[in-house]
Amino acid sequence: MDLFKQRIDDLRKELNRHNHNYYVLNSPQISDYEYDMLMKELESLERDYPEFDDDLSPTHRVGSDLSAGFTQVAHIHPMLSLSNTYSVSEVDDFMTRTRQQLMGETFSIVGEMKFDGTSISLIYENGRLVRAVTRGDGEKGDVVTENVKTIRSIPLELSGKGYPKMFEIRGEIVLPWNAFEKLNAERASNGEPVFANPRNAASGTLKMQNSAEVSRRGLDAYFYYMLGNDLPCDNHYDNMLKAREWGFKVSDVMTRLESIEQVDEFISHWDTARKLLPVATDGLVFKVNSLRQQLNLGYTAKSPRWAIAYKFQAERALTRLLHVSYEVGRTGVITPVANLEPVLLSGTIVKRASLHNEDIIKSLDIHEGDMVYVEKGGEIIPKITGVEVDMRQSEAKKIEFVSHCPACGSTLQRVEGEAAWICPQKYTCKPQMVGRIEHFVGRRMMNIDGIGEETAQLLFDQGMIKNIADLYDLTLDEIAMLDRFANRSAERILQGLEASKSVPFERVLFALSIPFVGETTAKKIARKVGNIDRLMEMNNDELMEIDDVGSRIAESIIDYFAEDCNKEIIDRLRKVGLQFALPEEKSENRTNKLQGKSVVISGTFAHHSRDEYKTIIEMNGGKNVGSISKKTDYVLAGENMGPAKYEKATSLGIEIIDEDTFLKLIE
Ligand code: IVH
Repeated sequence: MDLFKQRIDDLRKELNRHNHNYYVLNSPQISDYEYDMLMKELESLERDYPEFDDDLSPTHRVGSDLSAGFTQVAHIHPMLSLSNTYSVSEVDDFMTRTRQQLMGETFSIVGEMKFDGTSISLIYENGRLVRAVTRGDGEKGDVVTENVKTIRSIPLELSGKGYPKMFEIRGEIVLPWNAFEKLNAERASNGEPVFANPRNAASGTLKMQNSAEVSRRGLDAYFYYMLGNDLPCDNHYDNMLKAREWGFKVSDVMTRLESIEQVDEFISHWDTARKLLPVATDGLVFKVNSLRQQLNLGYTAKSPRWAIAYKFQAERALTRLLHVSYEVGRTGVITPVANLEPVLLSGTIVKRASLHNEDIIKSLDIHEGDMVYVEKGGEIIPKITGVEVDMRQSEAKKIEFVSHCPACGSTLQRVEGEAAWICPQKYTCKPQMVGRIEHFVGRRMMNIDGIGEETAQLLFDQGMIKNIADLYDLTLDEIAMLDRFANRSAERILQGLEASKSVPFERVLFALSIPFVGETTAKKIARKVGNIDRLMEMNNDELMEIDDVGSRIAESIIDYFAEDCNKEIIDRLRKVGLQFALPEEKSENRTNKLQGKSVVISGTFAHHSRDEYKTIIEMNGGKNVGSISKKTDYVLAGENMGPAKYEKATSLGIEIIDEDTFLKLIE
């Protein structure tokens, strides 16, 4: 081999090893100076011999300020969340439930830290990092490979052997406390807004366009979950040990636990010991260790049944309530906000806290100038959880909820059966009108590049738009006329609007701001109904047949389409080319091979979990039912099908099919 190529390879290997020693093992073997010398030598060789360039070379870890925007890709496996609890007894219930679901089988639990950062999915092929994707909406995320490559503790090429040809590993990108404090100090001295907590700082940094800046900020990453077809071991714990051998940072806090008592002990130890860790954590995660048992336990729509997160009690601080202000949301709901004397809480300064609704204000019996307790839960906005009544000033007045909209002055209405007050002037009250536009352009909706909350507000204030359809009538000249806008940003807005025409129907539906139709509901409606014309015609009963849609949502959808102005907006959006129907291939994925058939699932399976089989049955027109009766068409039988079920099925003459036959049947 070429002598220089040889030296380049050796230097890369050596630098990778030193990176690993320094960033993963925290035990550097050479001085910073020696490291810099090796790096300089490699840089100069790569400059002289560009034909040997490799984009995974350690020299590329410094990033560049030319990184392009992010593209989105679908996750190979959806990124779900974990079910949460704050109570030890609910973790105990999880253990008991798991034992029952596993039919009394013994099982081990792995206890880990829950890192408070932003989750990341990495794909490795032949031992090389090929892609890094953020969680996004769980189904698809942003490709942030260039930024992730700057994180020194993430191996770009794996060491050791035995890794699958292709696999996915998930973890949390974090900004360690010391890097967080340094970054905020710098920002404060530059007059820039500081980050509220390391989690926001980590996710904000990961999404920066300039990877050189990302490289500078000192992100780190811990890995906690491996997925793939040929993983080295049959259990989570050993797979994580392998990941550590291949170069990943896997936390030392990872313990196999065999009983409820051991789980409780783990919780009480880490509840305080976590404060000594160099990174923010917001709880613990408990996972069933065996992958076979994980498969048997399966998933709910949102989270695995084989894991649970125990969240630490939030810390609280005492401060003075200055005054209560009221905000009007896009659906007209009035949210009371407590404005506070600034106070330090878990490392960040808090000035505002949510008071949620009138009932909360009443139950807190909060008075002007009260000393109040503020807590940070899992949410970004802290909340008031109590009042120090003894410290109340004698003449303090009780806080009374407003009776009129703070924005348009109309009399508020209380939603039946709910704690919320709303302003009924949907189509004339400014914050509602602007709120709907802001929602429409947002990332998870139409994702219109170039228009954020401020721009939406500005366009509205200038009288250029009154509703979401007006956005598509904007012209380059009009936008460029605005003070803040150069031609380039005006062009970006128009391109963003153009690109939004290919946003799929389910997101368009969510973007419309139909009250109570959130992201998940919109998705379910879109997939079930297929297009907006059909949805507009549906009556209450038909709507309520859709998963997740109850009477309140059904009513809200009917009300929405009953308004002429909404119909007009939809018409205009349709004319400019927005997606109001599912694409063909989504519907093609379905077959009607099981049309009208009812199928009972029994036992455990090798290829899919029971939940997946349920979805497969429904996708193919069938119905999954719980128990065998004369009306059952098939029993899909896995291993360990219960003897009673077997007998019942045979005595009724119902066809019992195994997993492979079933898969062939619907192929
Ligand atoms: S396991 C299928 N383990 O918590 C579940 N998650 O609420 C895979 N997280 O999105 C996740 N530390 O970002 C797992 N040790 C840990 C974790 C962890 C932090 C985050 C992760 C996930 C969220 C779930």
